[in-house]
Amino acid sequence: MKAKDWAINIWKREEKNWVNRQQDLNYRECLVHPALEKQLRGIRTNNGVFVDLGCGDGTETRFLKRVLEKKGFNQFYGFDINNGFIKKAQDSGKINKGIVFDCGELSDLIKKYELYERADLATSLFVMQDEPNCKGLIAAMQNYIKRKGVLLAVTVHPQFAEQLARKDALKIDNEVEKSKKDDYLYAAKYPITEAGRSPFYVTYFQRALSDYVRMLEKHFHIEEIKGLKPSKQLLAIAEKGKIAPFFEEKHNVYWPKIAEISSTVIIKGVKK
Ligand SMILES: C[S@@+](CC[C@H](N)C(=O)[O-])C[C@H]1O[C@@H](n2cnc3c(N)ncnc32)[C@H](O)[C@@H]1O
Repeated sequence: MKAKDWAINIWKREEKNWVNRQQDLNYRECLVHPALEKQLRGIRTNNGVFVDLGCGDGTETRFLKRVLEKKGFNQFYGFDINNGFIKKAQDSGKINKGIVFDCGELSDLIKKYELYERADLATSLFVMQDEPNCKGLIAAMQNYIKRKGVLLAVTVHPQFAEQLARKDALKIDNEVEKSKKDDYLYAAKYPITEAGRSPFYVTYFQRALSDYVRMLEKHFHIEEIKGLKPSKQLLAIAEKGKIAPFFEEKHNVYWPKIAEISSTVIIKGVKK
């Protein structure tokens, strides 16, 4: 089986679990959203164009639209190769007003919507880890962004994945064919923990942080690399309110590392 087929198959199998995930939404709200808002503080445009590349079911696209509307953005797109996710995004009705969600290869959708070098801001949230050919993905993404436009690339922190692999919580898949020797170190199933039940697994390709930086640097000036871990305050609130995954729980395979090291990394690039 080729790496790309394997990634598509895993998403097909876990699509239902992903759109109904609970704890990951907490993770986003408590840790990822405040960090994204911080990164977006300085951004202002007139009639700005925003593209969310690999938008999944559109949850994050909707969150970002709410933030970006106040910063002069007025065109919003969410694209993904997974048809099931895009259907779900489109089905969300009224709350999607003003966002174009579509499914396909990024290299086709850029033509369909005439978006070549038009975006002031693009996000790629937890997508690079998902793609066997990350170089190709980055090349396709950067085409959307205008000169001096911004890319916020968010991914699982490779060191966190390494810790999960060490305790066998991340299931390494040795059978997956290595499509490009230098594009990932190993393929695996990444656990998504859910309070009260065992994790489900999604597609994952491990790379070193320096590999991501090297690939992005070809097209972007890297402005910031920021690891995300919960503050002591957040951990205390989570412990009290039982907010998964930020407290110790039988099925929480992220614990205790999630409290100790960065589990996510944001890389901010400005298009050359
Ligand atoms: C972990 S999900 C994240 C979804 C969403 N960005 C979020 O943060 O909730 C990864 C998504 O990347 C999409 N994806 C992976 N490779 C892609 C590619 N080459 N082009 C477009 N989407 C891709 C998958 O279909 C999946 O929806």
